[in-house]
Amino acid sequence: MKVTVVGAGAVGATCADNIARKELANELVLLDIKEGFAEGKAIDMMQTATLLGFDTKITGVTGDYSKTAGSDVVVITSGLPRKPGMTREELIGINAGIVKGVAENILKFSPEAIFIVISNPMDTMTYLALKSLGLPKHRIIGMGGTLDSSRFKFYLSQALNCNPNDLQGFVIGGHGDTTMIPLTRLATYQSLPVSNLLDKDTLDKVAADTMVGGATLTGLIGTSAWYAPGAAGAALVEAILRDEKKLFTCCVSLEGEYGQEDICLGVPVIIGRSGWEKIIDFKLTDEEQVAFNKSADAVRNMNSVLAE
Ligand code: NAI
Repeated sequence: MKVTVVGAGAVGATCADNIARKELANELVLLDIKEGFAEGKAIDMMQTATLLGFDTKITGVTGDYSKTAGSDVVVITSGLPRKPGMTREELIGINAGIVKGVAENILKFSPEAIFIVISNPMDTMTYLALKSLGLPKHRIIGMGGTLDSSRFKFYLSQALNCNPNDLQGFVIGGHGDTTMIPLTRLATYQSLPVSNLLDKDTLDKVAADTMVGGATLTGLIGTSAWYAPGAAGAALVEAILRDEKKLFTCCVSLEGEYGQEDICLGVPVIIGRSGWEKIIDFKLTDEEQVAFNKSADAVRNMNSVLAE
């Protein structure tokens, strides 16, 4: 199996590191535009192989797409990250050009690849990839809800003082501070509804903390986070290459599901060897559906910038 990660920055390198440690692929290419950067990161990672005991060959390249040929999965992390006080949405202009160019170059050498889009604003970048590449929709996956759901379970575990691995819960909608929807109603602790275990104020605070989870870290670190985003990207690569058929919230093309169409938005999907294989389309409450529609309106508004 061969995986390419485009962008050897904080998120891309962390994603690649996780892919190598888990031996998800025998070949892993890290590509960046900055001269020598991906080469350096790849060599540094290869020098952990004997320490960590993995057997993945990692190659770093500067802009040479021929080295990515025949990739099964490609993760796109190239682009600017946000700085404190910035929204993900403010990155649109510059990142749209980068993501479109990168995706088109990748496709020339890896016509069968499944794309995982991480660059922000991720919902719009996923829609851009879908529209500009003209690939079957199942091969375009945006990574946002996977991370947001993990943050949701982290905050729930803090409130319940429990092991986050005992929690189930997901975040749907857009991947923005005001567009994501943590579904507190459906979150469970070992099958017990958390809404029976936490009072409403605490649950509301968990949801609010989740929504600004990325901004909180940007404020603390000075740039956006990378450990959880990189791990979330690698978890999707793993589900694809190992055909896990696992449920993740991902940003995918909607054609009527959840009452929306002509948009890519976060919903629960089954991830397996052919990409996202099925949307789990369940009935939201009226309140949740209103929030989902509002989220779709905001993302659609941002997508309209692409046409300008
Ligand atoms: P970074 O600045 O550390 O790395 C970005 C890398 O992309 C740089 O090394 C840069 O040289 C490279 N790059 C820029 N243009 C390129 C091109 N045309 N071709 C190849 N490489 C190119 O940024 P970081 O922190 O890794 O974030 C990357 C992106 O991921 C940002 O847009 C950020 O907002 C987004 N992000 C998305 C998350 C999500 O959940 N979807 C979570 C965290 C970050």
